[in-house]
Amino acid sequence: MENKLGWGIIATGRIAGKFARALAHCDTGRLVAVTSRSKEKAEQFGAEHGVSHCYGSYEEILADPEVDAVYISTPHPMHSEWAIKAAQAKKHILCEKPMGMSRKEVEAMVDEAHVNDVFLMEAFMYRCHPQTAKLVELIRDGAIGAVRLIQATFSFQANVPPEHRLVNNALGGGGILDVGCYTVSMSRLIAGAALGKDFCEPSEVHGFGCFHPVTGVDGYAVGELLFPEGIIAQIASGVLLAQENVVRIYGAKGSIVVPWPWGPSLEGGTTRILINRNGLPLEEYLVQTDQWLYAIEADTVAENIDRRQASAMSWADSLGNASTLDAWRKAVGLVYQMEQHT
Ligand SMILES: NC(=O)c1ccc[n+]([C@@H]2O[C@H](COP(=O)([O-])OP(=O)(O)OC[C@H]3O[C@@H](n4cnc5c(N)ncnc54)[C@H](OP(=O)(O)O)[C@@H]3O)[C@@H](O)[C@H]2O)c1
Repeated sequence: MENKLGWGIIATGRIAGKFARALAHCDTGRLVAVTSRSKEKAEQFGAEHGVSHCYGSYEEILADPEVDAVYISTPHPMHSEWAIKAAQAKKHILCEKPMGMSRKEVEAMVDEAHVNDVFLMEAFMYRCHPQTAKLVELIRDGAIGAVRLIQATFSFQANVPPEHRLVNNALGGGGILDVGCYTVSMSRLIAGAALGKDFCEPSEVHGFGCFHPVTGVDGYAVGELLFPEGIIAQIASGVLLAQENVVRIYGAKGSIVVPWPWGPSLEGGTTRILINRNGLPLEEYLVQTDQWLYAIEADTVAENIDRRQASAMSWADSLGNASTLDAWRKAVGLVYQMEQHT
């Protein structure tokens, strides 16, 4: 493709490396710049991924005319600051999940994207993958009849010190924001598909959580979401508890299991959705793609850039997700130290 989108990466952490590797397999974009708080780290990352524009402060990448779009991969509390600055610099934005720490932050980011007329999307890669499109199609087509119960889990055991991003209070640690955001977005997506909408908001949110003994963030938590027409979601997340990371959907005429819902076919390949239509042999839908997961996400940005948002994860969808995360955090009693005096 001519005129490939010029990507700049803000922050050189773990996920930034995965995104950079995928960009090399992307039809619509190319990596042109990277920035870090340390010039040395940026240059190291640049050498690894073949990038010549390497900056030692985040501001600098926003002034690079070859950068059309930035990928923000800092810890969550810095997402809003850098998305807002990127929008003001007229850069398109793919921002890691959760988009912000709260609905309030997401509103400010969306407002800034709107005012500055730039693209903005929350980086839920699973939403861009054909497996998710197939799942939505099956629900819409009534494969299991009226949806009654959704169970979505994303939880793992991280053996990390209190300073690590995953459990660090000042860096927005804890399971609800890190991986619970996926379970909320999946539940809202499936409830929406069942009700003929793009997504749907719960009318009630309940939950419990257990906290890290030193930092006070949620080590693991569960939530219950009540949607219209009696659809209930049970969600679970954690950074201190390994669980089975699956999605199960029960309906009036059967059930669906998605064995690998969140990061399907990282480097392309085949994933599967299992359907049990009451009384019939188990059916298996195979979803095949040659494309890398994060390259599909980057292509989604490029393909929708003129519309400024993508239906895979629209602004309204991110706002709704943030509201539900706020409510889940309130239900479990999780208030970050940075929020205690605001
Ligand atoms: N979509 C996905 O599959 C996925 C997977 C994992 C994580 N994520 C999201 O991506 C974001 C980053 O996660 P990660 O696992 O890549 O984290 P990470 O490895 O800790 O990297 C975060 C990077 O942010 C920068 N940073 C800026 N201020 C920082 C501070 N005060 N403390 C520490 N680092 C700081 C650092 O880069 P520099 O030193 O270069 O500035 C650091 O390397 C999170 O919001 C997370 O939710 C998404």
